[in-house]
Amino acid sequence: MTEQIDWGNLGFGYHKTEKRYVSNYKDGKWDNGTLTEDANIVMNECACVLQYAQTCFEGMKAYTTVDGKIVCFRPDLNAQRMRESCLRLKMPVFPEERFIDAVCQVVAANKDYVPPYGTGASLYIRPYMFGSDAILGVKPANEFQFRIFASPVGPYFKGGVKPISVRISDFDRAAPHGTGHVKAGLNYAMSLYAIVDAHEKGFDENIYLDSGSRTYIEETGGANILFVTKSGKVVTPKSDTILPSITRRSLMQVAKDYLGLETEERPIKLEELEDMAECGLCGTAAVISPVGKITDHGKEIYLPSGMTAMGPVTQKLYDTLRGIQLGTIKAPSGWIKEIC
Ligand code: PLP
Ligand code: COI
Repeated sequence: MTEQIDWGNLGFGYHKTEKRYVSNYKDGKWDNGTLTEDANIVMNECACVLQYAQTCFEGMKAYTTVDGKIVCFRPDLNAQRMRESCLRLKMPVFPEERFIDAVCQVVAANKDYVPPYGTGASLYIRPYMFGSDAILGVKPANEFQFRIFASPVGPYFKGGVKPISVRISDFDRAAPHGTGHVKAGLNYAMSLYAIVDAHEKGFDENIYLDSGSRTYIEETGGANILFVTKSGKVVTPKSDTILPSITRRSLMQVAKDYLGLETEERPIKLEELEDMAECGLCGTAAVISPVGKITDHGKEIYLPSGMTAMGPVTQKLYDTLRGIQLGTIKAPSGWIKEIC
């Protein structure tokens, strides 16, 4: 019941909404797809997803704008990225136009769950696909299910936009030539031990290094990383083994075109951390979460922006992106998909 939701105090968690979308792939084709109220999935004990983790997902958000419309941010890029994930995992692509149409159907069917403008919350949309038929020898499934559910959410990190404390992880997330560049469920399974361990030791997240040389900064378990150098340039790691974040790509464009800042995507060495003035984790769930402190094996690196508030450049990036998403700042063409 939506009237019981305390929008301003939502955390980032699953909250069952009324309708979800489902389409099945069998005999080489997708069926027409439909909305259903059934949030449960029944499948064979030997389903490929259960045995061999053949699954990928996406994450995006719907917002209520200042003028009361419900919109979604760049769903075309999520559709394209899911296509890449499916190709890498030997899963059938769910056509991009159908993906966007299904997102719109789910948001419209759950529009009472889209948090009102000004609450800081949003409707998180989770498209996903998995191999559903029984597979025992290691090979891809023949049958698949594509689904989308939605859940109202608040900030990913407790405390909202308060700077967080992260550590350099000794665990790896992605191997060279592996699956780090796609949104495969397996990338997250292998980060679970590391995130529990980080939380137990008092850190909010792990920063992963490139597993080949362990000298370059990659990303965190659920977000890309942006830095602002002491000379005011916005820099972000370039790597083949990180997820191409839609938020990060958008923020780099915002930095350049809206804020007139110099930007650079390049490999960033661990030892360069000391030259950075600000750091933020960016993603659909994280938006931009400012980092106040990075711990590298006992060495504590405090970002000059401090532990109490976002740095000035991060704040401008955050405000501009939020403004674009909420309709208070004019968006670049094609960034905002109006749903209803
Ligand atoms: N990196 C990882 C590992 C993620 O899980 C996410 C979340 O989607 C991101 C980066 C951010 O990507 P996006 O901005 O497209 O949500
Ligand atoms: C997202 O930002 O959409 C993510 O997927 C991050 C995390 C919840 C896995």
